[in-house]
Amino acid sequence: MSSVLVTAQLPPKAMDILEQAVAVEILPTGADVQALRDASRGRHAIVSLLTNRVDAALLDAAGPSLKVVSNVAVGYDNIDVAAARERGVIVTNTPDVLTNATAELTWGLILAVTRRLGEGERLVRDGRWTGWSLDFMTGMELSGKQLGILGSGRIGRAVAAKAAAFGMTAVFSSRHGAGEIDGHPVMSVDELIATSDVLSLHVPLRPDTRHLINRAALERMKRTAYLVNTARGPVVDEAALASALKERVIAGAALDVFEREPIVHPDLLGLENVVLVPHIGSATHETRSGMAELAARNVVAVLAGKPPLTPVG
Ligand code: NAP
Ligand code: GLV
Repeated sequence: MSSVLVTAQLPPKAMDILEQAVAVEILPTGADVQALRDASRGRHAIVSLLTNRVDAALLDAAGPSLKVVSNVAVGYDNIDVAAARERGVIVTNTPDVLTNATAELTWGLILAVTRRLGEGERLVRDGRWTGWSLDFMTGMELSGKQLGILGSGRIGRAVAAKAAAFGMTAVFSSRHGAGEIDGHPVMSVDELIATSDVLSLHVPLRPDTRHLINRAALERMKRTAYLVNTARGPVVDEAALASALKERVIAGAALDVFEREPIVHPDLLGLENVVLVPHIGSATHETRSGMAELAARNVVAVLAGKPPLTPVG
């Protein structure tokens, strides 16, 4: 029977899918890098989380028996895909099943930052609310504004699809030139950054997207604009963002992802014009279960000699 290492307990349905086909071992909570390497030795598959670094050293520790690394995430910047390919190891991810949940969270963040929900909640809980007044806690109305979407893939398009409900005009930038995507205009990255009232990031983390939003990009944004990041932390230069928010180079930001999770840049923690949530884009019961089931099905397919359902690359 094939032997599979799962780096964390999965929801019951996903465990059932695996346990009906393979022998499963769950990595103990809190295991360090060396413990993960040791536990990987001789496995046929590893089910990884985005918090597990799957590099050449881990692949070598697993050894030649390893056939598949199944990531329970759509982003796979935690995996050295080239090293896996060199060793004949298939890598899979979990696209589509999390698109809607992540798009919903993105809209939650857009509303939270433009209407100052975090700031207002802190005020009420701290007993600092002194009453209603005309100019109190005013934010930006979404209707009539431009939502710029950087990364016109599954999640970016799902976010755009909900823009009309708020009266926003969604625009995209794409590496594939001008035109339209789902009826929304496509413009250059520079124009998107310079003209959007809300700029929402939906690109994967790759060498060309690392610090795509740096000080220069923030300075090109409108002073009244908001940045929302549900993609990956390192797409934004967090130190540059913290100073830009402090200096009011932009109006505000909402972040689900961070450069060194779970550490958040200390300067962000003291700012009122940033909403901070702990990487919960796909965190609904339905979606996390769907992700784990898809990851399990990928393992079972590959170990049965069938094509993976959702291979990477
Ligand atoms: P996707 O369908 O692959 O979409 C990514 C899009 O980004 C593609 O359209 C791609 O364009 C575009 N892109 C890549 N590099 C670019 C660049 N340098 N400039 C402009 N566009 C670029 O992926 P997805 O399913 O939408 O997921 C997107 C990312 O969201 C994931 O990689 C993950 O990091 C993140 N995510 C986060 C959470 C969360 O919990 N916060 C949840 C799910 C996903 P091409 O078509 O030209 O390659
Ligand atoms: C979550 O961040 C994912 O990439 O699935």
